[in-house]
Amino acid sequence: MDIYSAVESRRAVRAFSDQPVSTDVLKRVLGAASRAPSGGNLQPWNSYVLTGASLAEVKKRTAERIAAGDPGDEREFEMYPPDLTSPYRERRRAAAEQRYRVLGISCGDEQDRRDAVAANWNCFGAPAALFCYIDRAMGSAQWADIGMYLQTTMLLFRAEGLHSCPQLAWTVYRTTVAQVVSPPEEHVLVCGMSIGYEDPTLGSVRIGRAPLAETVTFLN
Ligand SMILES: Cc1cc2nc3c(=O)[nH]c(=O)nc-3n(C[C@H](O)[C@H](O)[C@H](O)COP(=O)(O)O)c2cc1C
Repeated sequence: MDIYSAVESRRAVRAFSDQPVSTDVLKRVLGAASRAPSGGNLQPWNSYVLTGASLAEVKKRTAERIAAGDPGDEREFEMYPPDLTSPYRERRRAAAEQRYRVLGISCGDEQDRRDAVAANWNCFGAPAALFCYIDRAMGSAQWADIGMYLQTTMLLFRAEGLHSCPQLAWTVYRTTVAQVVSPPEEHVLVCGMSIGYEDPTLGSVRIGRAPLAETVTFLN
């Protein structure tokens, strides 16, 4: 798969089959992703890749919290600025509308929306997941490095015929993830990621993007 195809075909997939992902493939991808760039080559990423019993345990414990009405852990960082201004607010709303449309969920279907969000904590059925941590002493430049690393892994997963979904949602139940992976106290969960083979029987959506002129300025 060439790099354009990998970029074009990567989407946040939210329906996975239970086909297992081999440890060899996971090791190959994570090994190659370590070539991602980072300022000063700090390589600030600390990843845990879970399959089998360990992932089942995270899902089970999280499901128990959700069933008990537990709204989640105190946040270590906010997912979005509190008052999203234009054009970000509109882009976020448009993406949500596109996602819910393919699921047949309309604006008023509060319970269906809650269920769609809750699917995050079952990794959308994926048999593998990655949880990426950063040392809390790191700054915004190193958080940007983590983004490059995660995108590198997602493109490499495409090259292996796999799909993924990056998930800030896992930070909501970060203490449950920590019970299973036991990260050092000084590490913060940046992002989770579901990994697996797409279940093609469930609807998929290709979320739009702003026109190039809105986000890129060419000067000559
Ligand atoms: C850092 C990050 C966190 C995300 N967190 C979630 C999440 O918790 N749940 C989810 O369903 N999608 C999540 N997404 C996926 C985005 O919603 C998705 O990338 C965006 O809507 C664009 O769609 P596309 O990736 O399919 O093109 C996340 C993406 C990124 C980059």
